[in-house]
Parts: sequence; C-alpha cells; structure tokens
Amino acid sequence: MTQLSAAQTGTTSGSPSDGRTLYGGKGTRRITVRDIAAAKERGEKWPMLTAYDAMTASVFDEAGIPVMLVGDSAGNCHLGYDTTVPVTLDEMTMLSAAVVRGTSRALIVGDLPFGSYQEGPVQALRSATRLVKEAGVGAVKLEGGERSHRQIELLVESGIPVMAHIGLTPQSVNAMGYRVQGRGEEAAQQLLRDAKAVQDAGAFAVVLELVPAELAAEVTRMLQIPTVGIGAGAETDAQVLVWTDMLGLTGGRVPKFVKQYADLREVMSGAAKAFAEDVVGGAFPTEAHSVH
Ligand code: KIV
Repeated sequence: MTQLSAAQTGTTSGSPSDGRTLYGGKGTRRITVRDIAAAKERGEKWPMLTAYDAMTASVFDEAGIPVMLVGDSAGNCHLGYDTTVPVTLDEMTMLSAAVVRGTSRALIVGDLPFGSYQEGPVQALRSATRLVKEAGVGAVKLEGGERSHRQIELLVESGIPVMAHIGLTPQSVNAMGYRVQGRGEEAAQQLLRDAKAVQDAGAFAVVLELVPAELAAEVTRMLQIPTVGIGAGAETDAQVLVWTDMLGLTGGRVPKFVKQYADLREVMSGAAKAFAEDVVGGAFPTEAHSVH
C-alpha cells in the first residue's frame, strides 16, 4: 500500500472519492486536509474512527471511512493502561505507522501523546516531525485551545496540518477529571475562546469532546474550520467514535454518547469458547484441516 506524502497528495488533482463526497466511493489518492476544507464549504458531514493497527484500519479504509485517528485512546483501548497519560511517542509512532501501512485512502491523523508537546513549540515540532517522517501520517492532533496555540502555529508554519482538541482533554484527567466541559457562562466563554484560538493558529479541524450540544452547535456556526464532535451533539461537522466502543469490544461501562453498532466482545468470546471446546473434545482439527 503506497503512502503518498502530504506534499504530493496536496498537489494531486484526482478526486479523493469517485463521487464528490468524503465518505463513499473508491479513492484514487489519499484524502488531504484540503479535501476536508472543501467538505466544510459544501456543508458535508463526515465520519472519523480511531484505529490502532493495520488490519482494523484496512477494514475501515475499505468501508470508506475518510479520516482515521490514531488516538492516544490506544492507551486504554489497545495497550492496557488506565488512562492516556502513560502513552509514549515511541508507541504512537509504531501504532501510527501500522495504520498508515494498512490504508490507502483515509487521511491518517496521529495523536501527540502527553509530554510530547507541552514544553513548547519546538518540542511539539520535534515530536510531530517523528509522526510525519517515521509513521507517514498526514496530520497530527494535540490537546488544548489557547494554551496550545503557539505549538499549533509552529507546526502549521512548518507544513504539518494540525487537528486541535478542546472541551474534555483526557491527557489532563489528573487536573479536570472526566466531566462535561463548557457548562455555565464562564466555561462556555472559555470554550469559545479556545475554539477561536486554534482556528486563528491554523488548525484545519477541531475535536469538541463532551460539551453541551447547544454550545458545540454555536462553535460550529462560528468557525470556518470543521468541528469533530464526540459527546457534543448532532450539529458538529463530523463525528468521531473510539472504534472499540463503537463495535462493542471495550467491555465495562460505555459512555452515554457512544452508539454500539456491534457486539464484538460477545462474538469473539463465543468463537474463542467454541474453538476451546472443539480442541478439548477432539472435534478440531478434522481430516479437512489436516495435511498429509
Ligand atoms: O485519543 C482519542 O481517541 C481521541 C478521540 C476520542 C477524539 O482523542
């Protein structure tokens, strides 16, 4: 699967999908941030899913998911940590490279993990450069509004597209917990300032996590860049879900904003038990599964 660089894809004239929309159709090249901007102009909604490995990503790519986020939610959903805080840049680089290798059409966004950009713009550029050069992502994501605007500015000036992330920012769990953000006049004003700050700094899109639907709608009307909602109501330009939540693999309590489209945990557990019982009872392998 050939990975075109962001510079190459940005100047290629083919359509990202055989039709005119981001979702649907087979692509002749990778989707770029310019296609994302064009979708906002058309008023088109689009889906984004997380992915952490090549095989899962290839399924979503074939299904036409136009943007995949190699989120640091990999910490909880793939690597077995309790939060996203321990995830390292080495881990994100390895996972992002796998997702890039498994896809040919989707724009792959790599998450900058906690501790890889908070020191300042130069550290952010060094970290983002690794994701672009070593993993081949087309864009990076980082958390924070006003507090991260200098990092966003330098990355964008350096040719690295940035997806911002405001509202609930899980890397700050030790300071803010997992609470709805933007409730009350003061918090709502801060969210609006954060949204404006990341747009002004040059972000091509912004994730709004766990904010009241009315406020997310106001941000979406206010910005020229697309908003990507998770627990932010129906009015954002795009919607993102963590794939293990969406397919029922995560286990345990699922947040209210998640819609489960399958129960993979049940399917996988049933298959594993059936295999085990066949082995224990001697029903597998049969002659059909044997070589001579
Ligand atoms: O890490 C992640 O998966 C995310 C999404 C929830 C937006 O940041």
